[in-house]
Amino acid sequence: MAMSIIWWFWSLLAICASDTFREKAEEIMKTTPVIDGHNDLPWQLLKLFNNRLNVSKANLNTLTETHTNIPKLKAGFVGGQFWSAYLPCDTQNKDAVKRILEQMDVIHRMCQRYPETFLCVTSSSGIRQAFGEGKVASLIGVEGGHLIDSSLGVLRALYHLGMRYLTLTHNCNTPWADNWMVDKGDDEAESEGLSVFGKRVLKEMNRLGVMIDLSHVSVATMKDALEYSEAPVIFSHSSAYSLCDHRRNVPDDVLQLVKSKRSLVMVNFYSYFVSCSKDATLSQVADHLDYIKKVAGAEAVGLGGDYDGVTELPAGLEDVSKYPDLIAELLRRNWTETEVRGVLSENLLRVFSEVELASNNMQVPEEEPIQLDELGGSCRTDYGYSQAPSIHLQIGALLAFLVPLLFSLNLL
Ligand SMILES: *[C@@H]1O[C@H](CO)[C@@H](O)[C@H](O)[C@H]1NC(C)=O
Ligand SMILES: *[C@@H]1O[C@H](CO)[C@@H](O)[C@H](O)[C@H]1NC(C)=O
Ligand SMILES: [Zn+2]
Repeated sequence: MAMSIIWWFWSLLAICASDTFREKAEEIMKTTPVIDGHNDLPWQLLKLFNNRLNVSKANLNTLTETHTNIPKLKAGFVGGQFWSAYLPCDTQNKDAVKRILEQMDVIHRMCQRYPETFLCVTSSSGIRQAFGEGKVASLIGVEGGHLIDSSLGVLRALYHLGMRYLTLTHNCNTPWADNWMVDKGDDEAESEGLSVFGKRVLKEMNRLGVMIDLSHVSVATMKDALEYSEAPVIFSHSSAYSLCDHRRNVPDDVLQLVKSKRSLVMVNFYSYFVSCSKDATLSQVADHLDYIKKVAGAEAVGLGGDYDGVTELPAGLEDVSKYPDLIAELLRRNWTETEVRGVLSENLLRVFSEVELASNNMQVPEEEPIQLDELGGSCRTDYGYSQAPSIHLQIGALLAFLVPLLFSLNLL
């Protein structure tokens, strides 16, 4: 009897203590809400409704098939979201550019349709403004370098439409950057990281002020980007390779570079990246946060849940309403209030402002296009290339003209 009373008392104490952490989490999140790095709701809107927001089932107040809806965002204290504008790799060299324009459009229409909830913004100050208005700052992350179709002009046009990060690859190589499947042995290395044109894309992203996202790229691409970028970079949805050796996660030597570059890893909640199996727990996600903090510093840790982009989620993190439970767990693990505010928003805001500061619209835009023969696909026209051959082709033509001439003059 006495034992059971003691046991009962202990449980009560434990429950009260956990409630305290949860209350403390909510108190912090009232002023510093979550900025999540990656949510695939726009992909769901395409798949479920072909991007029609006016059909009655697409009501974001009542939508239930998804991890994300308006009540869940409010319960989760989400104050900033990079919505993923994503299309799979099978659009490469097909209708990638048309479809990315449509995914960016549907994000803008979401803000237009629910103005009391979403505020579409494109800057770190815009995010703070949305916080002040109690709205979800809505930004666009373009997921997959194939979506710019190897064009600096398309890159700039997407920037003008609000793209503020570009994931350099999805699960396929582009003609200018290698993806993570190369490290797994499922894809051939082509650029061995970033090609010459890939470095030009990187430079132009720095000039514009678009964050470079390294989730989905090969380790060689990660290292090239961390070396050549003039601003900090992000992993919008990746976890720690040492805790789960999936190639989508970030290995320790890269975490060291993240630290020295004042960059950010926004932890992915997908069970297969957290525990390397279909079953994972909230506590294991906290282990990834702890680990990245240990290796790269608390300033390098963020949240990129990958909600609505994945099927298996950890117990306790089933949808976007659950972030406060994760924050409570960090407080239980003695994370300081400053560290927790960093994970929630401040680390992303710091990286984003540094990217904005490093941008420079006084600098001339990169103009040199990719070589025609580096492009794939059979439906292309070659306007521009045929009229104004690149420097390479000009030298080739010059040699083709000179060599026979010199021969004929017996000079070779
Ligand atoms: C949107 O839906 C409402 C209610 O179903 C309907 O009355 C209206 O005509 C629709 N608007 C458009 C542009 O389809
Ligand atoms: C947190 O700090 C308390 C007090 O210093 C300590 O007793 C406890 O073991 C720490 N917990 C963890 C998970 O480090
Ligand atoms: Zn992804």
